[in-house]
Amino acid sequence: MTKTIGLIVGSLRKASYNRMVAQTLSELDASIAFKWIELKELPLFNEDLEAGDGPEAVQVFKAAIQAVDGVIIVSPEYNSGIPGVLKNAIDWASRPSRSSVLRRKPFGLIGATPGGMGTVHAQLQTRHILESVQAQVLPFQKLLISQVHTKVDAEQHRLTDEKTKEYLQAYLQKFVHWIDHVPTLD
Ligand code: FNR
Repeated sequence: MTKTIGLIVGSLRKASYNRMVAQTLSELDASIAFKWIELKELPLFNEDLEAGDGPEAVQVFKAAIQAVDGVIIVSPEYNSGIPGVLKNAIDWASRPSRSSVLRRKPFGLIGATPGGMGTVHAQLQTRHILESVQAQVLPFQKLLISQVHTKVDAEQHRLTDEKTKEYLQAYLQKFVHWIDHVPTLD
């Protein structure tokens, strides 16, 4: 059956390299339906705003996560950690804590940086945070894209480096296959 994969980009920047990577990822396999799940409308997390159904943008965000078979986050690293906008979004989606849309949801993590460490610190943090809210993160795999500025066509807004596209393709296939084998234990 066709899988539906949500794509979250952890950068709000128009010319984001991570968005270029996500764009290319979304074009690699026509048998997969990709849905963009955006962060830019989310307010800053505040428990005071949780009364009732909470802010509309949050409801839309959670519904989008609920609706997909899995989510791939493509994110930069800021100051050796997870970008604030991404952590903010995860905090919103993690509520209510024992029955959130993140619970048992399969996640994949990809990150790109012009630097040399490929967002490894941010990915480790994001994995830790997602696992703490009982999301499932694709085990044993890391897709770290370093020197990303040398691997894109900025005008076309796409990642163009063939080797990196092969890594993306392999990651995507593993992720989609894994979704059907995610353990269902609590
Ligand atoms: C960065 N950048 C960065 N890069 C990195 O590899 N490790 C890091 O710890 C940081 N820290 C950091 C902090 C802040 C506040 C900014 C604004 C930037 C550089 C970052 O990788 C670069 O700006 C990317 O281009 C951001 O990703 P997008 O927006 O291109 O997707």
